Amino acid sequence: MNTLYKETDIINIINNEILSYLKKYAGKEMYEPMEYSIKAGGKRFRPMIMLLLCEAFSNNYEDCIPFAVAIECIHTYSLIHDDLPSMDNDELRRGLPTCHIKFDEATAILAGDGLLNIAFEIMLDKIPNDFNKKYLLATKYISDASGTKGMIKGQALDIKYENTSINKEMLLDIYENKTGKLILASMLAGAIIGGANDEQLKLVKNIAYNIGIAFQIKDDILDIEGDEKKIGKPIKSDIKNHKSTYVSIYGLEKAKDDYLLFSSTALKGLEDLGFKEKSIYKYIKKLIYRDN
Ligand code: IPE
Ligand code: IPE
Ligand code: MG
Ligand code: MG
Ligand code: MG
Repeated sequence: MNTLYKETDIINIINNEILSYLKKYAGKEMYEPMEYSIKAGGKRFRPMIMLLLCEAFSNNYEDCIPFAVAIECIHTYSLIHDDLPSMDNDELRRGLPTCHIKFDEATAILAGDGLLNIAFEIMLDKIPNDFNKKYLLATKYISDASGTKGMIKGQALDIKYENTSINKEMLLDIYENKTGKLILASMLAGAIIGGANDEQLKLVKNIAYNIGIAFQIKDDILDIEGDEKKIGKPIKSDIKNHKSTYVSIYGLEKAKDDYLLFSSTALKGLEDLGFKEKSIYKYIKKLIYRDN
């Protein structure tokens, strides 16, 4: 049995696994820009919650590793494309020049496409090697969440409604999709591989919804009052792009209050699952106070 103890240990496991999968799966033409964006770092939040939730259900996380690597590849691709001139047009990411600045725009588009594709190669290779329906379901959750009814939908709406004032329903729809869906897929994959039943999966969905919305509200708050050195990306990007955000619609104070509400609802859900003493609970609780 392998259990996860310290956060740094888990991040090291995730980083080592991502790099070894990348070496095995990435073709040599696109290796450098893909490795550049992956190696730049980031919190590894999505693989972390997948592994920790799997561990909370089953005391083991190893079966999740290909899916944890895949979700981080998809997330990193979404960031590379999000930063492109035709999207948010940002020049700093994870403390380094964005992929299109370091290389060029065509390379950044292809590096993003490449990361998306290897994610699926990695997940699908797990299935014939170790056939179990739960791996197919995890792949399906991740596929749905990344697509045009998930993260891509959210990004499309986010761009469509730049320069426009939107209501709360539309704002939450954008957040649920652009940010929430990869978080949902991470948690569902971790739960299903950990052996969660239907009742537990329903609770996980609700927890993930609240974490997803909270995560994006915090991102918007950090866009206003974060420290560029800590967040590793430019502040005031949302203002520059005339985005409607939780902060622009409700103001900073209400955004902070509601952030705590969504976060505590998520923690309460984890308690209802009986996970108050588990690492996933401690990690999510600690993350509420993140400054990056
Ligand atoms: C940034 O995600 C994009 C959002 C969905 C808000 P993260 O804050 O997880 O970025 P990294 O992975 O730590 O760089
Ligand atoms: C992006 O939201 C969410 C993605 C799907 C990448 P943002 O545009 O606010 O993310 P950052 O602030 O650039 O990381
Ligand atoms: Mg964006
Ligand atoms: Mg952006
Ligand atoms: Mg942002």
